[in-house]
Amino acid sequence: MKVAVVGGGLSGHAIARAIAARGASPVLFSRSTGFDVTRDDAMLRLRDADVIVEATGRFTTSRSIATRFFTQSTRAVAAAANAVGARHVLLSIVNCERAEVQGYGYFAGKRAQEEAARDLSRDLAIVRTTQWFEFAGQTLERMGLGPVGLVPRMLIQPVALDAVAAVVADAAVEPKTVVQREVAGPEIMTLAEMTRRVRPTKVVRIPLLLPGPTWRAIRHGALLPSQDAAIVGPTFSDWLAHDRTHAEADGIGDASSA
Ligand SMILES: NC(=O)c1ccc[n+]([C@@H]2O[C@H](COP(=O)([O-])OP(=O)(O)OC[C@H]3O[C@@H](n4cnc5c(N)ncnc54)[C@H](OP(=O)(O)O)[C@@H]3O)[C@@H](O)[C@H]2O)c1
Repeated sequence: MKVAVVGGGLSGHAIARAIAARGASPVLFSRSTGFDVTRDDAMLRLRDADVIVEATGRFTTSRSIATRFFTQSTRAVAAAANAVGARHVLLSIVNCERAEVQGYGYFAGKRAQEEAARDLSRDLAIVRTTQWFEFAGQTLERMGLGPVGLVPRMLIQPVALDAVAAVVADAAVEPKTVVQREVAGPEIMTLAEMTRRVRPTKVVRIPLLLPGPTWRAIRHGALLPSQDAAIVGPTFSDWLAHDRTHAEADGIGDASSA
């Protein structure tokens, strides 16, 4: 079985490994492998796929940019999947559709993406996950300003990306059973607690109290999963202990609090 994984970042590589471990053949498609989903001919490039996993991402807080990017990506993937009769597996975010988080442009873009996928794809599975353990490092990178990293106050139930990748790979290679899966990790914690314990070591974490009803809702748990979510993967502590490449050294400068 040939599985095209569109979006070759952290998640794309983890998903490709999980697919290969199930005996299928993954191929990564992203700009670094010479494929831009918003420009290139997806129908032509993805024509050999039995399944297409869509894990593209563009970090932005702009509603219009996020909506344009995510819907363009999904329109291209859905058209390619429909043309060859392939299943479309979309990676998405728990609760991104909720009204109280639509003030954050990225979530508005993800909601529009899910709607486009449901409208267009004939054989669709959506895997919605909470924020990944890797999200702590991504935040320090994306919100970094020289020696400091801004850390928005968020209450989340994070999950290991490898555990997410296993669920995505199952949705790709197993006969279709459900159209939507929700997965989360085993513990609720704040993003501040997480960033305090990951690399890079030299960055001083500054807590960020973002204004407005959307961020108030996120601080109070609007991104926490429902009781129907499958709980997968290790605890954050076990994950850090297992792979010290993620872990922060002790005694690092830290201006954040929960
Ligand atoms: N991070 C989280 O905690 C989390 C949690 C739940 C769900 N998700 C969702 O999972 C997906 C992937 O998230 P992520 O954090 O891995 O995203 P990301 O790092 O921002 O981007 C994923 C990859 O998309 C590729 N990409 C960007 N523009 C592209 C284009 N025009 N054509 C083809 N590929 C393109 C990039 O690879 P190239 O540079 O090689 O193009 C990038 O490595 C997103 O939809 C995100 O919403 C993320």
